Order: sequence, then structure tokens, then C-alpha cells
Amino acid sequence: MSTDLPMTDLPLYGSGDSTYQSVGGLEGITQLVDRFYDLMESLPEAKALREMHPQDLTGSRQKLVYFLSGWMGGPKLFAEHFGSISLPVAHAHLPVDRDSKAMWLHCMATALEQLGYPLELRDYLVAKFETPAESIRLMAEFEQGKKQQPGTGL
Ligand code: HEM
Repeated sequence: MSTDLPMTDLPLYGSGDSTYQSVGGLEGITQLVDRFYDLMESLPEAKALREMHPQDLTGSRQKLVYFLSGWMGGPKLFAEHFGSISLPVAHAHLPVDRDSKAMWLHCMATALEQLGYPLELRDYLVAKFETPAESIRLMAEFEQGKKQQPGTGL
């Protein structure tokens, strides 16, 4: 049996709390979420996405930090503080479409880049975010479709 496997064969992220640790734990996640929402507030092209959020972003920032902590393999702070969550259901009332989904991912990718995370980690995370973002979009568009067809019983 070979024992000289190259290190690159080992999963860098996604097992145990490796992603959480690589991002810098709760402090790193807080920095990431702060930069993410700061970008959303300052980029003119993110205006529509910003306007979906409450005026005061304090709660949104805290909820995303708590959620990402558990999502990245760290303490399940969202569940501890707010209970269980289904991301598509939690976003179903919002007018999420392809543009706002792309802008959400753009703000996150830019935040990761500006904070100087290694390219490998950035690519891993952006690819990972794609899955919940797409589920959110699909459910939101389904809900919007229902609203546009009043009386059909759908
Ligand atoms: C697809 C693009 C997305 C859009 C447009 C979007 C937009 C929003 C908005 C506007 C809110 C605030 C809702 C409110 O306070 O009424 C929110 C909350 C939240 N978002 Fe997103 N989001 C997106 C993707 C994501 C993703 C990918 C995640 C996690 C990986 C996420 C995690 C959360 C969490 C945890 C909350 C708090 C939910 C709650 O407690 O109700 N979002 N999002």
C-alpha cells in the first residue's frame, strides 16, 4: 500500500470544521459578512439587492454570521439562537431572480477577494454558495409565478 500520497489528494475544505477554520473562525466570518454587506451598500449595481433588505442591516449581518458559522462546519449559532431554517422558505417572500442571485454571489466573491483569502478557498466557497443561492432563486421565482396567476389555485 502506498503511503506517499501527495498532500493535494486530501480534502482541504468541507470536512469537519476545516472550512470554518480556514475562513478564520467566527472573527473571519464576521469580517467576511461585514465586507459583503458593505459592498452591497456601496456598489451602485447592487442597489436592487440592497433594497430587498431592511433599512437597518444589523439583524441581517448577525443572522448571516450565525448561519455561515454552522454552514462552514463551526458552531451552529443560527440554530441555537433562532431555531431551524430552510433558506428557500426564508427567502420565498423576496423577489429573487437571476440578477439578484448573481449580485449576491458577486458581493460574496468580491468580499472574499478583498479580504485576501487564497484563490483555492475563494473558488471552493463561491461554488458552494451557488447551490443554496440557486435553490433560493428557484423557490422565489415559483412563489412570484403563483402571485402573477391569481385565481388559478396554483
Ligand atoms: C440568491 C440570492 C440571495 C438574495 C437575493 C438574498 C437576500 C436576502 C434578504 C433580502 C434577506 C433579508 C430578509 C429580511 O430581513 O426580510 C436575507 C436573509 C438571509 N439570507 Fe439571504 N439572499 C440570498 C442568498 C443567500 C444565501 C446563498 C445564503 C446562505 C448561504 C443566505 C442566507 C441568509 C440568511 C441566513 C438570512 C436570514 C434569514 C432569516 O432569519 O429570515 N442568503 N437574504
